[in-house]
Amino acid sequence: MSDVFAVVPAPLVLEPSSEPPFVISPSTVVVVDAADELVPVAVLTADLLGRVSGRPVEIRYAELDAPGVVRMRLVDDLPPGPEAYRVVVGEGRVALEARTTDGLVHAVVTLRQLLRAHPDGGAHAAAVRIEDAPRYAWRGLSLDVARHFVTVADLEVVIGLMAHYKLNVLHLHLTDDQAWRLDLPSRPGLVRRASAHSVDGDPGGHYSRADWDQILAFARARAVRVVPEIDVPGHVNAAQHAYGELNPDGEPVEEYLGIEVGFSRLHDDLPETHAFLADVFGDLAEMTPGDYLHIGGDEVLTMGHDEYERLVRSAAAAVTAHGKRVVAWQEVASVPDLPAGTVVQYWDTRVDPAPFVRAARAGARILMSPGSRVYLDMKYGPDFPLGLEWAGHVELRDSYEWDPATLVVGLPPEAVAGVEAAVWTETLRTLDDLTTMLLPRLAAVAEVAWSDLGRRDFDDFTTRLAPHGEVWDQLGLAWHRSPQGRWSAPVASEPAG
Ligand code: ACM
Repeated sequence: MSDVFAVVPAPLVLEPSSEPPFVISPSTVVVVDAADELVPVAVLTADLLGRVSGRPVEIRYAELDAPGVVRMRLVDDLPPGPEAYRVVVGEGRVALEARTTDGLVHAVVTLRQLLRAHPDGGAHAAAVRIEDAPRYAWRGLSLDVARHFVTVADLEVVIGLMAHYKLNVLHLHLTDDQAWRLDLPSRPGLVRRASAHSVDGDPGGHYSRADWDQILAFARARAVRVVPEIDVPGHVNAAQHAYGELNPDGEPVEEYLGIEVGFSRLHDDLPETHAFLADVFGDLAEMTPGDYLHIGGDEVLTMGHDEYERLVRSAAAAVTAHGKRVVAWQEVASVPDLPAGTVVQYWDTRVDPAPFVRAARAGARILMSPGSRVYLDMKYGPDFPLGLEWAGHVELRDSYEWDPATLVVGLPPEAVAGVEAAVWTETLRTLDDLTTMLLPRLAAVAEVAWSDLGRRDFDDFTTRLAPHGEVWDQLGLAWHRSPQGRWSAPVASEPAG
């Protein structure tokens, strides 16, 4: 394979150089200043280089600038923004520089994408200078762990993929009609009584406090923040199965393991409802270090608008009471006077966008998750075995060829908070199912979110993406060999029989 600079998402500046390549050798070391904050990213770097080359790579905490060295530094002479970074490969060494440790993570994964493994061990990267910073600060993936539970180990694979494509927000859809997946101290019955199963009676599960802390730390080390969602006032059958007090007759409802939506609802006139909202969002705020909590708000089909407004306000107040900001699906755009800084997540392109434009003019920011582009649970095509198709079929080019700034007519471009892909798991049972839907489309969405429009071209993207298929194969990840890609020929398998 010739040396295409297979960097995805496309960087702001990439200048190839005629200097000799950097080769990982037995003398390769990662060098950082002896600062506590740099230790995790140095470990991540040594681990990645070791894995690519098949050779252990050491870390030194010292000033050292010799051939074979990967030197990581915090610096300030970079493009604007906290995530900007620089990678310089030349003279047989590498410099990774950024303003923050998040920027250093972006530098490391860029180096990882530049490295070509040698069949007999080792790896090299061609000489190049890259300077880069993202277009949007919010580059997310929303993952439904309610319809089918996703184990911590599988979640770590997903987070690794996100980091590889410089996505920085993992939005976890933790609750729905079918199950409640996070143990909260104020309501222990939620996971005890409503987490055992997934759709169709498949096995379920939940995250303990220790699991949660592990997920947060694993993500944090890879420059990914977690935004947890408790979906209210609809999509609450699991909560009503666990706690009868949320129902007018005081009795728990039956467990629900189908895939219909819109039938369950909280009740504004039950005082227990408001105590529940205050407690669960209070717990979530206490357990989550980030700025944002997601309150859901989607698809409440059995409630008048006044009651919907009161319940959304109650949930939003429970979030802001703890100093957090509110994220919610697009339906909340019809609620006047949302808390300052609310992020409204646009998903259903079939509806009139006027309320989002009004909400944005009133101060909300809009997160772009158009189903027809970035709902990665949509089938790639009509015969695809996995996924749904209510938002249409979404092939690689569909995920790539759109502009977040002009998608919603009339929206001021500065109101766009960013881009978030979403995967709903009604039909996705295994990690293979999940990665088949994510790859290659997640890389396309990541480029939409990171790269300026002027840097984006589908043919160029598929050329840069081709070597990524080989990496996914090496990692043993299942993926969709989209006919719109330019993949190199798969290694021929033995003919059957
Ligand atoms: C959604 O897809 N119901 C947000």
